[in-house]
Amino acid sequence: MSIRTEKLTHIYMPGTPFAAKALHDVTFELQKGQVALLIGPSGSGKSTLIQHLNGLLKPTSGQVYFDDQSIEGSKDRLLKLRRKIGLVFQLPEEQFFSETVYDEVAFAPRNLGLAEEKIRDSVYDALNLVGLVAEEIKDRHPFNLSSGQKRLVAIAAVLSLKPEVLILDEPTAGLDPAGRRNLFNLLAGFNQKEGMTIIIATHHFDEAVALANHVLVLKQGKLLLNGSRDEVFARREDLEKLGLALPSVTELMQDLAAEGLPVRTDLYTIKEAREEINKMKEKQQ
Ligand SMILES: Nc1ncnc2c1ncn2[C@@H]1O[C@H](COP(=O)(O)OP(=O)(O)O)[C@@H](O)[C@H]1O
Ligand SMILES: [Mg+2]
Repeated sequence: MSIRTEKLTHIYMPGTPFAAKALHDVTFELQKGQVALLIGPSGSGKSTLIQHLNGLLKPTSGQVYFDDQSIEGSKDRLLKLRRKIGLVFQLPEEQFFSETVYDEVAFAPRNLGLAEEKIRDSVYDALNLVGLVAEEIKDRHPFNLSSGQKRLVAIAAVLSLKPEVLILDEPTAGLDPAGRRNLFNLLAGFNQKEGMTIIIATHHFDEAVALANHVLVLKQGKLLLNGSRDEVFARREDLEKLGLALPSVTELMQDLAAEGLPVRTDLYTIKEAREEINKMKEKQQ
């Protein structure tokens, strides 16, 4: 599995006085099993970019490739592509339209024309994957769930097609800390157990950064940084020039190192930082 864009450019409402260039010559490649953070200020083109990755938007120029094949083409090919690349929109639960959780999650498999028994299996599997108990939740009205449960149902609805790639747009919006922790634990599991490729578009990346190994930085539609997580977050000055902060823990470790403490700076979680600081204290004793 690979996803690649080549000089991907998107102009909204081209040829009108409202024409807006949202992406400009964006080129990058991701391989199976990678977890990529797509970061950048509001309006930098994150949502536009991810809608190109499963063919919801058509490039003004440039290309998107899935497994080295351009995704442009027949409706049939696009439908197949959308089964492999699942996209969870920002606040997806605002688009719920079914009376029950079951029907909400069954919508996509039903559209494929699967037999009811297969649909049921897909629904149960998907709810199970996001840690919900199908028997308990399947008959509830989606609007009556907690915000965390709603988000999980929305993700289950995308997982019901067993995608190879999962793309999430601002997945933590509206979730409380426990909901965010739960979400990232689940995503880490999908990646580690199923080898799922995951792309997370967000401007709050303190928590998501722990599971990422690649970072793409957009600003005004241009891909300004593209590299491993450690490479990108080592470039503090470049990021600050773009108006982006480091993950809090990484910033702290870089500050301590700059003050002369012998600590690693490529750390992202409080747990990693605590271990590193304890190690340093032991060495100094
Ligand atoms: N449907 C649209 N029509 C016109 N302009 C749009 C549309 N969607 C987004 N834009 C513009 O494209 C740029 C990128 O937006 P978006 O991809 O939503 O950025 P982000 O997700 O990083 O906040 C912004 O300038 C935005 O105003
Ligand atoms: Mg957006």
